[in-house]
Amino acid sequence: MENKEKMICMCNEISEKEIIEAITEKNCNTVEKVGEETGAGTICGGCIPLIEKLIEKHKKE
Ligand code: FES
Repeated sequence: MENKEKMICMCNEISEKEIIEAITEKNCNTVEKVGEETGAGTICGGCIPLIEKLIEKHKKE
């Protein structure tokens, strides 16, 4: 089984890949911007720490 479609946001079913794309292609450098772009983190907020980690790892300076 492949693991590249790892889900980050269970509420909105947003995968890690979609969040990384929002960060790298749409220049979303905050949780709020990723939320506007993908919907991730906008319901329960439980995935926000994971989104923050992905931003730290993938954002451009
Ligand atoms: S898991 Fe992302 S808002 Fe609930």
